Amino acid sequence: MPFALSRRARNLKPSATFRLARRAQELRDAGQDVLAFGLGEPDFDTPARAREAAHRAIDDGATHYTANEGLPALRSAIARAFERTQAVHYDPAGEILVTAGAKQALSHAILALVDEGDEVLVPTPYWLSYPEQVTLAGGTMKAIETRAEDGYHLTAETVAEAAGPKTKLLILNSPNNPTGAVLDEARLGEIADVCIERDLLVVSDEIYGSLVYGGARHRSIAGARPEMRERTIVCHGMSKSYAMTGWRLGFALAPREVLAAMAKIQSHTTSNANSIAQHAAIAAIEECSADVERMRQAFEERQRLVRDRLSAVEGLDVPVPEGAFYVFPSIAALIGRKSPAGAAIADSAAFCDALLDEAHVSVVPGGEFGVDRAFRLSYAASLDDLQRGCDRIAEFVASLS
Ligand SMILES: Cc1ncc(COP(=O)(O)O)c(C=O)c1O
Repeated sequence: MPFALSRRARNLKPSATFRLARRAQELRDAGQDVLAFGLGEPDFDTPARAREAAHRAIDDGATHYTANEGLPALRSAIARAFERTQAVHYDPAGEILVTAGAKQALSHAILALVDEGDEVLVPTPYWLSYPEQVTLAGGTMKAIETRAEDGYHLTAETVAEAAGPKTKLLILNSPNNPTGAVLDEARLGEIADVCIERDLLVVSDEIYGSLVYGGARHRSIAGARPEMRERTIVCHGMSKSYAMTGWRLGFALAPREVLAAMAKIQSHTTSNANSIAQHAAIAAIEECSADVERMRQAFEERQRLVRDRLSAVEGLDVPVPEGAFYVFPSIAALIGRKSPAGAAIADSAAFCDALLDEAHVSVVPGGEFGVDRAFRLSYAASLDDLQRGCDRIAEFVASLS
């Protein structure tokens, strides 16, 4: 029976990263040695103390609903950690909401702020859920270009140029997925000045905040100017820094009024985040900083390997990633070539399909992030796999005619 699906559902695009992972799995099931660098997920286990806290929570009977906003002890731990790293204070009672992943924090924030007809600025390349979440809320996305030549750093000028009378919100993501770009204090200050002048709110996705390399430091735009705390919704979570993707635990820090609206949305959709995961998150935040640093160092070693190996490939242009665990090489020089099996490299999707079919390496086409002629490789994988993957990419690129 054909269903009359809602316009809202029909307008959504399926998530391409999951589709590509499925395709890689099909090839594997057919006996191929596929190297998959598509999914943005740490390959480490959740730190032991977080796992132990979850076991204890189950045994102690913490298996009931929690407060809608999350366990008070977790909200306090989040507030302390944010104040320690960013020097911005949020009241655990009323300015922090624990959610089912950062994705849900972002979704609540956008639903709480965006009305039909509101315009939302989204820098490109973007994490692919932002446009869809804006669409779900009935808003209109306006893309702002960031450029490979500028290391994909968003500039205040482009925000000022893009902001119009209907613009309500800017979605910021530093450290960035897919480019790895990190906005430093000076750039954030300039962007903050534009937001204050143009009366823009900011949803700041800081999920990769602990994963920065070299001289880069993660700063939150909430602390970039004293006025920014009142116009910023910070979305964050445990997935990336603590290798806790499957626990589905995120959080938002926001001014009281916005947070209350987000909590109301949560109360009528999912009630509260998983109780056991919340107990694990308390232990992770309070006791696992050495684990976070160990994983960060491992990512940095991989970042160096991938950056060096891919930079040496003629035809790829690789901006230095400063954070997260992605590289976003440009393939502009390869467009128009042909693969050994005869595939025309017309765009990033064609490049990635041919790379998967012919070299058995899975990466995500830049087109999925709003910027064609590039691809995203996630280096959340073993050094050995990354070495072999870079070898295959180098060989494949060299084989294009
Ligand atoms: C930029 C960005 N924001 C948010 C998320 C969602 O994270 P979570 O697992 O906490 O929902 C991801 C996950 O890939 C991400 O890359």
